[in-house]
Order: sequence, then C-alpha cells, then structure tokens
Amino acid sequence: MKFFIDTANLKEIKEAHDLGVLDGVTTNPSLMAKEGITGHDKIMQHYVDICNIVDGPVSAEVISTDFEGMVREGEALAELHENIVVKIPMIKDGVKALKYFAERDIKTNCTLIFSAGQALLAAKAGATYVSPFVGRLDDISTDGIDLIDQIRAIYDNYFFETQILAASVRHPMHIIQCAEIGADVMTGPLKSILALLNHPLTDSGLAQFLADYQKGNK
Ligand code: E4P
Repeated sequence: MKFFIDTANLKEIKEAHDLGVLDGVTTNPSLMAKEGITGHDKIMQHYVDICNIVDGPVSAEVISTDFEGMVREGEALAELHENIVVKIPMIKDGVKALKYFAERDIKTNCTLIFSAGQALLAAKAGATYVSPFVGRLDDISTDGIDLIDQIRAIYDNYFFETQILAASVRHPMHIIQCAEIGADVMTGPLKSILALLNHPLTDSGLAQFLADYQKGNK
C-alpha cells in the first residue's frame, strides 16, 4: 500500500519524506487555506514546491464545478509538473471531466467519494484514483472501512485499474484496516503515519537493552 500525506504543510511533507516511506501527497482547498496559501499564483507555486520535495503523485484540486472550468483549471495544473494529479469532485460535470482527462493521459483523483456507486462511476469514467473519505463516514456513524471493502470487491470483479486511495484517514487503525483490505493507497496526516511507530513493549524493551549495555560496559 502506498503512503500519501494529506497536508499542504511543507515541513510535515519534508518530515514524512525524510522518514523514507512517503509515496505522494494529497491536498485540498481547505488544507491550502489552513497553511495561509491563498491567491492563484501562490497556490500554483505551492504545488511546485511540494513537487520539488516529493518524487511521487501530488493531488491538486480544481475549484470549478462546471466542465469547462474543470478542464481549464486541470490542464493548467497538469502543466505545472509531471507529478500533478488533477483532483476532481464527484459531481456530474466532474465525471465528464474525468473522461476528458483520461482520454488525454492526464492523471486524476476523484474526490468526495462516499458510496460504492460513486466509485463505480468514477472508475468507468477512467479516474486514476478514487478517494473514499473513511473518517468523514465514521463521523456520521457509517463504517468508512466497509466502503473500502465494497469498492475493492467491485473493482476486482471487473479488473478496473482505478486505484483506491483511502482518504480522510484519522488514526493508525484506519491505515492497518485499509492495508488488510487491499486499498492501493492511503492518505492521512503525519501524526497517523508516525503513530504506526508506537508500541510500549518496543519502548520498554529498548530501555532495558540500553540499561543492560550500560551495566555490562561499566
Ligand atoms: C482527501 O484527499 C482529503 O484531502 C482528506 O483526506 C479529507 O480528510 P478530512 O476528512 O480529515 O478533512
């Protein structure tokens, strides 16, 4: 399973990259705003800055909701860097835009996926990735992980090449469950990735090893 980080924070992207396990980055307009990245030129430059840190797919989201606008924005984003993936919302014009970009070999990530039917539609339109939002479904008392399972079964039935990018991951158990099911990618915050490191027996075991070394080397 590939690990993407879900942030526009360059420091966190660098930290995950330096750990050696980072395969890509996802952003969205909210994450860009959170970092204070506003205005067309600054936003475009920020995507380039991210691409210069990570050698992997970087999702950049369009803000248009009509087909022509999405095409215009998506083409400009794709021109920025070869690793840019155009992020398109799951709406009617978005489906048309997915098809348009697929025919031109421009990679896409269909975002805001909350049902298996939406994921099926995005795959039929040729999306490179679909982003089912696990955590946001959990937030409304619906099992987000079940959706990953459902999409995996549907894509495997028909050999769809669209990759399942489990998004809105909130904690390490989400990551483990996605890996068990066979999600192609997960995207989450740095703290969820780092939380995979933790185990109290590792900490106590290491403390013991170091203490015994000190005793033996006095
Ligand atoms: C997906 O690409 C989104 O950016 C993201 O994962 C949403 O996560 P959130 O529900 O924690 O905002």
